[in-house]
Amino acid sequence: MRVSSVLYSLVGLCLVTLAASQSSSGPYDSALIGSRHPFYNLTQKLDHSSGDNTTFKQRYQMVTDYFQPGGPILFAQSAEQDIVPVESSDLFDMAKELRGLVIGLEHRFFGTSLPQSYNGSASSFAPLTLGNVLEDAAAFVDFVKKNVTGAANSEVIVQVGSYGGNLALLAFPV
Ligand SMILES: *[C@@H]1O[C@H](CO)[C@@H](O)[C@H](O)[C@H]1NC(C)=O
Ligand SMILES: *[C@@H]1O[C@H](CO)[C@@H](O)[C@H](O)[C@H]1NC(C)=O
Ligand SMILES: *[C@@H]1O[C@H](CO)[C@@H](O)[C@H](O)[C@H]1NC(C)=O
Ligand SMILES: *[C@@H]1O[C@H](CO)[C@@H](O)[C@H](O)[C@H]1NC(C)=O
Repeated sequence: MRVSSVLYSLVGLCLVTLAASQSSSGPYDSALIGSRHPFYNLTQKLDHSSGDNTTFKQRYQMVTDYFQPGGPILFAQSAEQDIVPVESSDLFDMAKELRGLVIGLEHRFFGTSLPQSYNGSASSFAPLTLGNVLEDAAAFVDFVKKNVTGAANSEVIVQVGSYGGNLALLAFPV
């Protein structure tokens, strides 16, 4: 995954601002957040670009009800807020027809996906980079492809609006 360094630092700054203004303070459950489907945690590397093995818990959803082997992976990437329940995504409505696997991922530093090392200081925002956000998405998709029988070679369709739309575009450029 290649991201230009200029874009990287610019968006990194925006992310810091956004995260600093977050108001959530988990933990949440599906009843509180309004989803019929359960939430899970994925153990993610805090910094994908270093040899440091520190991890954090990243919240996600995965709905296999409509999936048939070879169907697409319909990925709703959440942006700068708590995870958006999968049912809220248009992808969810398409899943039945497409025989797709619907997955959703919370953005790091939002909702319950806050690293334990976060303490409010500027330096504890260091792992909040565009590169890490995109690597989270890539690692999540890798996990899903291994986790679900018949998904190993599935195409991935990413959808979300606004800042999240940029993430979707950047996530799988080739
Ligand atoms: C996921 O991790 C968060 C943060 O550590 C925690 O509050 C929550 O209970 C976990 N959820 C599940 C389903 O394990
Ligand atoms: C991180 O994990 C990898 C794979 O298990 C291991 O090879 C490496 O030594 C670990 N790095 C540190 C700093 O512990
Ligand atoms: C806050 O976190 C940063 C980065 O993880 C760390 O360097 C610093 O010592 C922490 N500060 C306190 C008061 O725990
Ligand atoms: C597959 O994902 C489900 C939840 O999405 C989880 O409970 C299960 O542990 C995962 N299985 C493996 C082998 O990772």
